[in-house]
Amino acid sequence: MKVTVSRKAHFNAAHRLYRPDWSFEKNDSIFGKCNNPNFHGHNYDLTVSVTGDIDPETGYVVDVKILKDFIKSEIEDSFDHKNLNIDVPEFKNLNPTAENIVVVIYDKLKAVLDSNLALEVTLFETPRNFVSYSGL
Ligand code: NI
Repeated sequence: MKVTVSRKAHFNAAHRLYRPDWSFEKNDSIFGKCNNPNFHGHNYDLTVSVTGDIDPETGYVVDVKILKDFIKSEIEDSFDHKNLNIDVPEFKNLNPTAENIVVVIYDKLKAVLDSNLALEVTLFETPRNFVSYSGL
């Protein structure tokens, strides 16, 4: 019997989508407005879902307080009110698309969570555009 526990979170961040090895024109044709050299911001929303067995002693799959603290220390403290391209080392050589951001978030949380727990992260870049990653 597996139960999924989810926690929502939020951060604001700026980014620019481009490849330094492409011309401005090629970046413009692929990334459009997201290639704005002066960056642009998003209000990112996050859902972190943890699936596992219910601990018979506590009745918890995961202590939500601990999950909340991991999201704060690993994600919000690093990403909130930051320029992802400049301030976050993971994106120094990685284009901060929603797809790449969700994988970075997953990897950071997976590293601190109990290895018996399955993890899925969904990242909303806008209310209508969102991506998910579960380690597959
Ligand atoms: Ni953007």
